[in-house]
This record gives sequence, structure tokens and C-alpha cells, in this order.
Amino acid sequence: MSKLKAGKRTFTMIKPDAVAAGNIGAILKDINAAGFKIVAMKYTKLSAAKAGEFYAVHKERPFYGELVAFMSSGPIVAAVLEKENAVADFRTLIGATNPANAAAGTLRAKYAKSMGENAVHGSDSDENAAIEAAFHFAGTEMFA
Ligand code: RTP
Ligand code: MG
Repeated sequence: MSKLKAGKRTFTMIKPDAVAAGNIGAILKDINAAGFKIVAMKYTKLSAAKAGEFYAVHKERPFYGELVAFMSSGPIVAAVLEKENAVADFRTLIGATNPANAAAGTLRAKYAKSMGENAVHGSDSDENAAIEAAFHFAGTEMFA
């Protein structure tokens, strides 16, 4: 966790829908254009068990099974991003969870299909950014 600079880093995934739609490049370009630096990145696929662990906070929610099935349905891009005020600024960049409510120009407004298949994940706190980055990357895989 000490590998993550509090307040300066967030964790993201380009979700299976956006990967399948061929939007990896466009989304990474938008992320860079918004001032985020990529400090770690991998193209990978979550097993159902790993997806369940990642979203364990939602275990009791009615959409949990669907969420786990979707997040393990195809490859994703996982990345750690650096910027001042990274967590909040990235949540602004991605937009509301439901793309129907996402502000124009946000990643979810541009690339998401639905509430469930919403293109991009962004950490919701500095604490979770650190946990999520460590879930996917060793300290030796992050480059300031
Ligand atoms: P994420 O964690 O993926 O960045 O999304 P988020 O913070 O905007 O939303 P969160 O509340 O953490 O929910 C995680 C994912 O679960 C799906 N979801 N479905 N059907 C529903 O009511 C519902 N609510 C959430 C979404 O795909 C959401 O991204
Ligand atoms: Mg969330």
C-alpha cells in the first residue's frame, strides 16, 4: 500500500464491453488527454472467483451475480493512473454509473452500453485505490 501515493493515484479497468467494442485505444487516449499518467497497465482476464473477490463489497446486492459474470466474461485492461486529486477527477471523467445519467463527454456517456456494461471502472476512495491497485499489480510493476 505504501507503493500508492495517497491522493495522487487511482485504479481503473476498461471493462469487457469496451474491450469487445474495440475502444481500448480511444479510452486510453481520453484518459491521457485528461491529464492522467499511466503508472501500471496490463491486458488480462478475471476469473469468476477473482471478479467476485474484486467486487466483494457488493456481495449482498441483487446485481452481484450479473456483475461477476460480466466482469469475467472477457478480457479487460487494468491500470493504475496518476494525477493530482486522481480518485475524484477520474470519477468525474468516467461519469455516472448509469450511462443514461452520465454527463456529456464522460467516458460512460461515450462508450458505455448500460448500467451493467458501463465501459470503465474507477476507484471510489484513496483507500480502495490502494487495495485495488495491489490486487492487480506488484509494487515492481508500477512506475512513477
Ligand atoms: P465501478 O465500481 O465499476 O467503477 O462502478 P461504480 O462505482 O460507478 O458503481 P458501483 O456502485 O460500485 O457498482 C459496481 C458496478 O455494479 C453494477 N451495478 N449494477 N443494476 C444495478 O442497480 C447496478 N448497480 C451497480 C454496475 O456495472 C457498476 O459499475
Ligand atoms: Mg464502485
